[in-house]
Amino acid sequence: MSAARHVAIIMDGNGRWAKRRHLPRAMGHRKGVEAVRALVRALKTIELECLTLYAFSSENWKRPEDEVDDLMDLMRRFIKSDLPEFIEHDVRLKIIGNWQALAPDIVEMLEDALRQTENGTRTLAVALNYGAQAEIVEAARKAAAAGEITERSLAAHLYTADLPPLDLLIRTSGEVRLSNFLLWQSAYAEMLFTDVLWPDFTPAHLLDALEHFAVRERRFGGR
Ligand code: FPP
Repeated sequence: MSAARHVAIIMDGNGRWAKRRHLPRAMGHRKGVEAVRALVRALKTIELECLTLYAFSSENWKRPEDEVDDLMDLMRRFIKSDLPEFIEHDVRLKIIGNWQALAPDIVEMLEDALRQTENGTRTLAVALNYGAQAEIVEAARKAAAAGEITERSLAAHLYTADLPPLDLLIRTSGEVRLSNFLLWQSAYAEMLFTDVLWPDFTPAHLLDALEHFAVRERRFGGR
């Protein structure tokens, strides 16, 4: 029995949460940010080295422009309002994905947030403009340029190279697929697919998932 060190979450279902309440999709995303905030706050009492959240995929650009703008605005506001708490609670922010391609003001904001939180002991990794296949291709290129393509050398060039191995991947809202998220890192991860819509996901759900993880026996291909 061992505790999870690294959990990743595909936060899905904001749109359906809003639709069920006859609210605009934007409200679903707003409630989704509140769920993120509650989880980050809970990190101070939950023993976890790293929480990785899929906030914006490289495919999400295909959504209507006003929804993309809305998500970007939520990101700006979230960083601005919650950065002091990250610092206070020893949370190191990490961004994975091609985030340098985001709007210049967001890039600047994120760079500043990364600097200010670099000494945090727990990591909140946020995937922004992230796609796992592109990540693997880029890592393979770098490994090849360094003269050696092995599992180890490739993994060393992934965004997650400095994070603990992924133990548990959770997806909310009942969809059962990985949607180009952490494909390499999921090789031995446990998977949990829950019907709970992301805005309804609470720290209690995470604690429950961690408890179940701790009693599962992982074999990594052995017996
Ligand atoms: C999926 O819901 C969710 C997203 C595409 C974005 C996730 C973003 C947030 C929770 C807010 C921003 C995050 C941070 C860290 C500030 P969906 O719209 O695909 O839902 P649906 O499948 O029900 O339509």
